[in-house]
Amino acid sequence: MGSAGKVVELNAGTKIPLVGLGTAAINQNPEEIKTAVATALEVGYRHFDTASLYRSECALGDALKDACLKGLVAREEFFVTTKLWSEYLDDPVSALRTSLKNLKLEYVDLYLIHWPLRLRKGSSFPIPKEEDFLPLDLESAWKGMEECVHLGLTKAIGVSNFSCKKIGDLLSHAKISPAVNQVEMHPLWQQKKLRDYCSKVNIHVSAWSPLGGAPNAQGSNGVMDNPVIKEIAEKHGKTTAQVILRWGLEQGVSVLPKSYNKGRIAQNFQVFDWSLTAEDHSKISRLEQKKANRGEEVVNSTTSPYKSVEELWDGEI
Ligand code: A2P
Repeated sequence: MGSAGKVVELNAGTKIPLVGLGTAAINQNPEEIKTAVATALEVGYRHFDTASLYRSECALGDALKDACLKGLVAREEFFVTTKLWSEYLDDPVSALRTSLKNLKLEYVDLYLIHWPLRLRKGSSFPIPKEEDFLPLDLESAWKGMEECVHLGLTKAIGVSNFSCKKIGDLLSHAKISPAVNQVEMHPLWQQKKLRDYCSKVNIHVSAWSPLGGAPNAQGSNGVMDNPVIKEIAEKHGKTTAQVILRWGLEQGVSVLPKSYNKGRIAQNFQVFDWSLTAEDHSKISRLEQKKANRGEEVVNSTTSPYKSVEELWDGEI
């Protein structure tokens, strides 16, 4: 994969860089985010992933504006993704306008429905209460997303945490097809069925928490400690994180590792000029599968549209 392989074209006609900096963290520190974004730009990242939920939009916007003012990068040279939080499903246009204000941008490159879920404003997080859930109408939410494109507020729209079934339902009424489905994906949750389906309907897959996430958030899922991956990393003289990210790239997805550490930001971008072997792939393909984020917190037997984890993922778990 040469430098031309660092981007892929979306069905919207724009190009998505294959390694993006994730910015989801528990305790956000704006200065730390700004420094991380500046470092990332310096080492070559041109893709930044945020969400209104992450509280990283403002600092990301400040850092990007700074870089533009200094002439280090031009707006059309970087790709920004943000996401519609479940409390604003009724009005994607207003929600995106707020995000754009935070980001100090005139448009984003990609706007995603963060979860297939509709919540009351001011809901409890991360575990919504019973009274926080509202009936879900993804058809009208998608119309709002399409309106964001028509207004020029985003170049492309997509979804996150959608199963094959939910994408199929969306495609049955969508005028603009989702360009991306951003989902949990790493060697211990490889998403083979979902990736095959998305490839068939020309939807690009992005991997969130490609390294398995921060151990103090949803708990470590063991991806970084996996002995098979460690052994492959040693063989190539690479780090475990690099092998995991390279594996994602060789599966044809974009990866969004979060790091605010200078060395790790740089390390996570050094994944383009080497490759895994067929034997490495074969070993990784045999790893036992276990989804880390099962979404249990948005399942209940009374008010949630999902009475069980199986319903949330339409049995694809
Ligand atoms: P830090 O920000 O201190 O680097 P994910 O992207 O899968 O959600 O994982 C994010 C977690 O992995 C964060 O805790 C981040 O911490 C850590 N991390 C990111 N890159 C690396 C790396 N190359 N090696 C080890 N840990 C990493």
